[in-house]
Amino acid sequence: MGTKNNFLPGTVGLAPMAGVTDYPFRKICFEQGAKFAFTEMISAKSVLLNIAVNEKYFPRTDEKNLVGVQLFGSDPFELAQAAALVEERGLWVDLNAGCPVAKVVKRGAGSALLKDIDLLKKIVREMRRVVNKLSVKTRIGWEKNEFEKIYDALVSEGVDIIFVHGRTAKQMYSGKAKWDIYNPGAVPLYISGDIYSKEDIKQAMELSGADGVIVARGAIGNPWIFSENQNPPSIDDKLRVVLQHIDLLTGEYGKHGVIEFRKFVAGYTKDMPHAREFRNKVMKITDVNNLKQAFVEYFTNISKHKHS
Ligand SMILES: Cc1cc2nc3c(=O)[nH]c(=O)nc-3n(C[C@H](O)[C@H](O)[C@H](O)COP(=O)(O)O)c2cc1C
Repeated sequence: MGTKNNFLPGTVGLAPMAGVTDYPFRKICFEQGAKFAFTEMISAKSVLLNIAVNEKYFPRTDEKNLVGVQLFGSDPFELAQAAALVEERGLWVDLNAGCPVAKVVKRGAGSALLKDIDLLKKIVREMRRVVNKLSVKTRIGWEKNEFEKIYDALVSEGVDIIFVHGRTAKQMYSGKAKWDIYNPGAVPLYISGDIYSKEDIKQAMELSGADGVIVARGAIGNPWIFSENQNPPSIDDKLRVVLQHIDLLTGEYGKHGVIEFRKFVAGYTKDMPHAREFRNKVMKITDVNNLKQAFVEYFTNISKHKHS
C-alpha cells in the first residue's frame, strides 16, 4: 500500500460525476459517511477565460477540506495555470485523464490523454510545478490495458495519488471493471468501477491491495453505501434523506431543483414496491411541495405495510 503523501481523510470517497456530484449531493454523501469527494469536472480553459462562471462547481466553505477540484483539458500550460488558480479552492487538484465522452475526447482531453503518454507526462510535470497536492484520475488504457505504463509514467512525474477506473476508454461502461490491477505501492492507489455495495468495497480493496475506493453510480440514491452501519437504512431514514436532498437542491437551484432531483428518483426507489408507477408519477411533478408530499405518502405507505 502506498501511504506516502496520502492527504485523503479516509478510504472510501465519492467519485466525480459531471451533472451529479454537485454541492447538494456531496453534502448528502458526506453526512452518510463519504470521507472525501471531487467536484464535477471543470474545464481548464474556462477557468482561465472566466473563473467566476465556474463558481457553482467549486467546493463550499463547509466541505473545502474534503473536496478535490477536478480539471480537464489538453494543454499542459493551460492546465497548470488553471490548477494554480483553483488550488486554494479545495483540498487538492485532480487531473481528469479518464473521461471517455466524445465531447471531451474530441478536444484531446479526458481519456484522450492516454493515447499520448508523453503528453500526459508533460501535463503532470507542469501541474506538479505549481500544485502542492496533485492526483490523476485515469482508466487502465485507451483501447488496451496499459495501466503499468500509465502508472509508472504518473509516478515518475511525482503525482501524489492515482485513481483508476478499471476499464479502457474504448470500453466506455461495458464489460466489468477490473479490480485486480497493477499496484506496486509507490503511491496511494484508489480503485473505481462497479462498486455497488459494502461487500464490493471490501472485495475491490482486497483484490487490488488498494488504499481505498471511490464510488460513483453506486452512490446515486444510495448514499448509505458510505455508512459505517452495516444495516440498510430504514424507510424512515430514507425518507428523511430524500426530503433533505430535495430541500438542498431547491436551496441551490430554486424551482429547477425539482427537475434536478429526477436523476435520483430511480436510485432512491430501487427495489421498492410499485416503484415504476410511483416514478412515472413523480417524474411529472414540477412543484416542490407536491414532490415532497408524493414521497411522504409513498414511503409512509410502505412503512405502514411493513409494520402491519
Ligand atoms: C454520470 C457520470 C458522470 C461522470 N463524470 C465524471 C467526471 O466528471 N470526471 C471523472 O473523472 N469521472 C467521471 N465519471 C466516472 C466516474 O467517476 C467513475 O469512475 C465511473 O463511473 C466508474 O465507477 P462506477 O461504476 O462507481 O460508476 C462519471 C460517471 C458517470 C456515470
